[in-house]
Amino acid sequence: MTSVPARLPVDATTTNAWGSLTELSKNLRPDLRGWFAADPARAERLSHQAADLHVDLSKNLVTDDVLAALLALADEVKLTERRDAMFAGEHINVTEDRAVLHTALRRPAEEPLTVDGQDITADVQDELAKVYAFAEKVRSGEWTGVTGEPVRTIVNIGIGGSDLGPVMAYEALEPYVQDGLEVRFVSNIDPTDVAQKTADLDPTTTLFIVASKTFGTLETLTNARLARDWLWRSLVAAGAVEDSEEGRADAVAKHFVAVSTALDKVEAFGIDPENAFGFWDWVGGRYSVDSAIGTSLAVAIGPDAFAEFLGGFHAMDEHFRTEPLERNVPVLMGLLNVWYVNFRDAHTHAVLPYAQQLHRFPAYLQQLTMESNGKSVRWDGTPVTSDTGEVFWGEPGTNGQHAFYQLIHQGTRTIPADFIAVANPAYPLTDAVGDGGAVEAGADVHGLFLANFFAQTKALAFGKTADEVRAEGVAEDLVSAKVFSGNRPTTSILAPALTPSVLGQLVALYEHITFVQGVVWGIDSFDQWGVELGKKLALEIAPAVAGDEAALAAQDPSTAALIAKYRELRA
Ligand code: F6P
Repeated sequence: MTSVPARLPVDATTTNAWGSLTELSKNLRPDLRGWFAADPARAERLSHQAADLHVDLSKNLVTDDVLAALLALADEVKLTERRDAMFAGEHINVTEDRAVLHTALRRPAEEPLTVDGQDITADVQDELAKVYAFAEKVRSGEWTGVTGEPVRTIVNIGIGGSDLGPVMAYEALEPYVQDGLEVRFVSNIDPTDVAQKTADLDPTTTLFIVASKTFGTLETLTNARLARDWLWRSLVAAGAVEDSEEGRADAVAKHFVAVSTALDKVEAFGIDPENAFGFWDWVGGRYSVDSAIGTSLAVAIGPDAFAEFLGGFHAMDEHFRTEPLERNVPVLMGLLNVWYVNFRDAHTHAVLPYAQQLHRFPAYLQQLTMESNGKSVRWDGTPVTSDTGEVFWGEPGTNGQHAFYQLIHQGTRTIPADFIAVANPAYPLTDAVGDGGAVEAGADVHGLFLANFFAQTKALAFGKTADEVRAEGVAEDLVSAKVFSGNRPTTSILAPALTPSVLGQLVALYEHITFVQGVVWGIDSFDQWGVELGKKLALEIAPAVAGDEAALAAQDPSTAALIAKYRELRA
């Protein structure tokens, strides 16, 4: 395979830019009030357009010198070289020796891309065509279950990237879902999950999609077996199928499809490979919502909207690939994250969508960012030379305002936060009556909602001084409690509406931000070895939990005592 450029990561901490950033940080006295007063064009200068996203970076704790040094850092770590290597299909996933080509999943059909002698675009389009044909069949009612009934509920069984992307996008694009179709998502091996999600379902109108890149994930295969068992039992109980080998095979054929890169394992499970949709090892699980892993979404919103979703990803890919770095939003946001993590002692990063439909977006981003950049060694196996991945977290505004914003406003930690909003809501409602005070009769509720979006970033940036508090007549002994320091960094992202395209743009934006950070830190953002040990131990421990005394005795004292306690408590 083609060689990997810059095979050895550049140690960012040895660059000139790192030295400059260290100095700049030492001397920086953040003063957003002063900076905006001295430079009225700051907001305009530091706002950028990326596809449909308007991104305002001006409330970040950076001066022009800091930004210049961050861009110099990007240059010294050879960011663009590695970006281009990714788009070209070079094996930048070094520890797994794989190409990283999620960007090929959304590449236009007319743009071939040959990797390892294979036209990847053609492969992607073939598989997409299969997914779309299946989606049309389900949507039109042509796909029927054992009794000839059309599908009304799809249950996606998957975990991690085979769940978080589809569920996040399904919730985000709920207004686009075809009437009469519902998708549910089962992920956890906690039996409660599958039990609750199937409890009220009619098996004759239910279709399961087993989504697993490897088709070897304990949780997913266990849930798939439980679902298959539930299907058989309830179809037989309803008199819909005979309790025979053929009856069972027919039920699986008509009520189960799969998405995987391991089609042999799909077949072994009993699902006809004809009813399986594939993808490739060059798509990481957390980068796979735009592959066949999004089949449940494609059925729900239809091929046209799914194609629009892919188009949004591609628009952001093009921005990332071609825009000069000083206006390149994923590059700038990734570098800002490096600034906060490595020079301003930030440990976490909040993502706060002011869009209820994006309520699963922070959870989705947690896998994307933390499974990608939570690493302590670099892609050549040597230890990292600086802190790496920060903790990503968040909840939709305004809910978070009434929960954890206290700490963001007045706590001792620096928490950079991304605020995301859309101008046009899916459900425009007016408050006909108002409250007789601040909320006028006929008020646009989305306007009220977004007033919070604007107010929060303003409060975080500019705060409230002791003199301003005093001027409100506050008693002196309460003044300090009511002071807001300000200078708390935020980025504001505003889109016209939460369309499939805009959602694709948002996801691709964060994919590329994650990539930029990984390149600076010299880590392989596309492997996930850190999830392996726990998985292996769970399998080793399972016999002890089930009652095997020798397995119990082999555990460390704490684990053995906990398991013994569990066994004592378990009825
Ligand atoms: O355990 C982590 C992980 O490998 C993720 O990277 C992946 O998204 C998830 O498990 C599910 O894997 P699969 O799609 O192979 O079932």
